[in-house]
Amino acid sequence: MADQAERLREIVRGNKYPNNQTRVIAVTSGKGGVGKTNCSVNLGIALAKLGARPLLVDADLGLANVDVILGMMPQYNLGHVILGEKRISDVIVNGPAGLRIIASGSGVYKLANLNEKTLEQCLQDLNEIEKYTDIMIIDTGAGLSKSVLQFVLAAGEVIVVTTPEPTAITDAYGVIKVIASSDLNLPIWLVVNMVRNEAEGAQAIERLTTVSKRFLGVELATLGYIPYDPIVSKAVKEQQPFMISHPRSMAGQALNQMARNLLSDGMAGTHLTTSFFDRLIEKFR
Ligand SMILES: Nc1ncnc2c1ncn2[C@@H]1O[C@H](COP(=O)(O)OP(=O)(O)OP(=O)(O)O)[C@@H](O)[C@H]1O
Ligand SMILES: [Mg+2]
Repeated sequence: MADQAERLREIVRGNKYPNNQTRVIAVTSGKGGVGKTNCSVNLGIALAKLGARPLLVDADLGLANVDVILGMMPQYNLGHVILGEKRISDVIVNGPAGLRIIASGSGVYKLANLNEKTLEQCLQDLNEIEKYTDIMIIDTGAGLSKSVLQFVLAAGEVIVVTTPEPTAITDAYGVIKVIASSDLNLPIWLVVNMVRNEAEGAQAIERLTTVSKRFLGVELATLGYIPYDPIVSKAVKEQQPFMISHPRSMAGQALNQMARNLLSDGMAGTHLTTSFFDRLIEKFR
């Protein structure tokens, strides 16, 4: 047991890409409402509890809800940074269990028009933030609109969330196809949410991995299943993440296991040569 704990601490310590860059993981889906935001927030908390230093960025430009699920009302957000009104460090707020958060804002649409001075400032600030951030989790909107795709393709890894429903699986495949057509090297993790039992989760994973391999030549990695658990919607209503209020619930245990799976995989991101922000600006321009 002690050995296991020590091994985990070693894995967590400096869990970055081999070139010492912060891991950047975009969470996306084909169908909406499949659980991306709950997954992002609670995964972030699970990672923080394991000793990693995560930063959660809400990049859902339409329906930002990270702050709602956390019951927080940050005064400033990513929009203020892009408009040049605030520095990145000014908009980071402290959430539960040491999870740091950047809320979304409408100004994010203007990322493409960032002026040189603000851009320079952002790059400097991001370099500073990378020093104390192991993993950045980016919660995006559903359905790969242009702006979502830019965040996804700039990331070093992607988590595609689906449910076992055939419509959600079909839409997840659609997203994987778009990602693969732009970047075959981008590692893709699969999460099946709201499963009624393990067999249902395994079946969804099997279907998606098989067709992705056969038709797209993409190897998907399984991050995990999350059971359908009434605690999730209860936690949303109470604006208290279940990883805080009910860490031992079925959903809580699943997220804890997913965080461990993520931390023990060190291979992702090895192909990256530029930083996330550089790639993001490049995509938006
Ligand atoms: N594992 C689960 N068990 C039960 N209910 C769940 C589970 N995961 C999510 N839900 C329910 O689904 C709702 C939608 O979840 P969430 O907001 O995380 O989805 P989303 O993919 O981020 O949606 P959007 O596409 O609108 O951004 C939650 O409010 C919750 O009620
Ligand atoms: Mg959401």
